[in-house]
Amino acid sequence: MRTILFFNQKGGVAKTTSAVNTAAALAEAGARVLLIDADPQGSATNYLGYNFSNNGDLISAAYNSSNHLDEHALETAVHNLYLIPACSRLRELYRKLKSDNSESYPLRERMASISAKNWDYTIIDAPPGSGQVVLNAVAAAQELIVPVEARFLSLSALGGLFRLIQNVNKQLNPDLKLLGVLCTRFREEENHSQDMADMLMQKFGSNVFYSVIHEDEAVAESARRFMPVTQMAPDSVGAMDFRQLSEEIMSN
Ligand SMILES: Nc1ncnc2c1ncn2[C@@H]1O[C@H](COP(=O)(O)OP(=O)(O)O)[C@@H](O)[C@H]1O
Ligand SMILES: [Mg+2]
Repeated sequence: MRTILFFNQKGGVAKTTSAVNTAAALAEAGARVLLIDADPQGSATNYLGYNFSNNGDLISAAYNSSNHLDEHALETAVHNLYLIPACSRLRELYRKLKSDNSESYPLRERMASISAKNWDYTIIDAPPGSGQVVLNAVAAAQELIVPVEARFLSLSALGGLFRLIQNVNKQLNPDLKLLGVLCTRFREEENHSQDMADMLMQKFGSNVFYSVIHEDEAVAESARRFMPVTQMAPDSVGAMDFRQLSEEIMSN
């Protein structure tokens, strides 16, 4: 089982979109995939058609029991793709972390109960930020994918990102591997997008995925229709991009 975290301290850079659609594309390719929504906002949960307050609370108990966490995974409309939704228990855990300033990693502890033999991939959608809540998700992962929005990237943001990846790596989880920086919302027709992609290559070299995710209305619409773009619009540019990315991940 490989455990991959979609991570960037910034919000709105397509973390959730990338996590959900990559998970769906991997499942479509035949892998058994468990998606964990570690963001109390529940965006990935909503994306897959589950209502956070109704269904999420079914999972609450799972975070507090000694059973395998994945025994409580919910089916999704995508064959082979299962979901541990965000739930109120997650909010509680995180509130406690904030007030304790604690050094404990409850998400990692619960995730250690997942039966590795049942899954090829566990994909985690992280909340934004770089505080204890996010570090919890970082501690639980083996590999990082860092989505970067090609449209609005600045050089200073890039430096910050680089340092963050280095620090995260050393302090908390020395085995954590940067699987790749993912260029998202790429617009072929904009010079700016190309400049950003070039800058990423200069800074991160072979750590940048060959696959890029283009700006595509079908991708945005798929979230509003509560299904992955690979399912809603299988022939769209977005669906093809995520399939290509999933192949790159599988061959890495
Ligand atoms: N490839 C894409 N094409 C079009 N819109 C996108 C694409 N990727 C993300 N978006 C849109 O960008 C917004 C932010 O994405 P989201 O995945 O929620 O970011 P994050 O999880 O980092 O906060 C959403 O409205 C989403 O629909
Ligand atoms: Mg998100």
